[in-house]
Amino acid sequence: MSDLALVSPPLPTSPCLTGEALKLGIMASGSGSNFEAVAAAIAAGQLNAQIQVLIYNNPQAKAAERAQNHGVPAVLLNHRDFDSREALDAQVAETLQAYGVEWVIMAGWMRIVTPTLIDAFPGRMINIHPSLLPSFKGIRAIEQALASQVKLTGCTVHIVTLEMDSGPILMQAAVPILEGDDAERLHQRIQVQEHRILPAAIALAAQRYG
Ligand code: GRF
Repeated sequence: MSDLALVSPPLPTSPCLTGEALKLGIMASGSGSNFEAVAAAIAAGQLNAQIQVLIYNNPQAKAAERAQNHGVPAVLLNHRDFDSREALDAQVAETLQAYGVEWVIMAGWMRIVTPTLIDAFPGRMINIHPSLLPSFKGIRAIEQALASQVKLTGCTVHIVTLEMDSGPILMQAAVPILEGDDAERLHQRIQVQEHRILPAAIALAAQRYG
């Protein structure tokens, strides 16, 4: 089976680069490899977008370093400095708006988001999740898949709605679980697919709902 056959809908062969560049805000808590994939797709002319700002909540997040390398402003909003999820989300929304963001990409934002943020960008928030939703919602999706003994898992890019990991699905890629896989090894292979589908799914969302 070719790699392409694992992605649904298929990745576009020629990117749609007409019109104004999408103004993206990316939210990340960790390594930021998905941030990098979006930045690389933009640089390669595969995605007509501009990353206005990265918001990160964890001072150690490597994503911040990646943003600096790409000349993208990186704003730390440490959840420990806020009294509630809503207070954090209000500041996230305000920051995204201040940077002129139109589409919000949750690329490994390891916090539950509240209506305070979701309602500020209705239908314009996108999340990437490391399972074939609706299976294995929530945290430790890869461990959940391994424990369930399914033979196929993957990743999903979807629109964020009030119910966690449940919004309209934009794109999915399937990844087989191989003999001897542990969470780290499986995550590495899932991430290869995440990096392919996230930029394509952003373009698809803008085309479909923009
Ligand atoms: C990704 O695997 C994503 O599915 C999950 O968090 C991870 C973030 O990875 N929600 P990275 O920080 O983009 O490398």
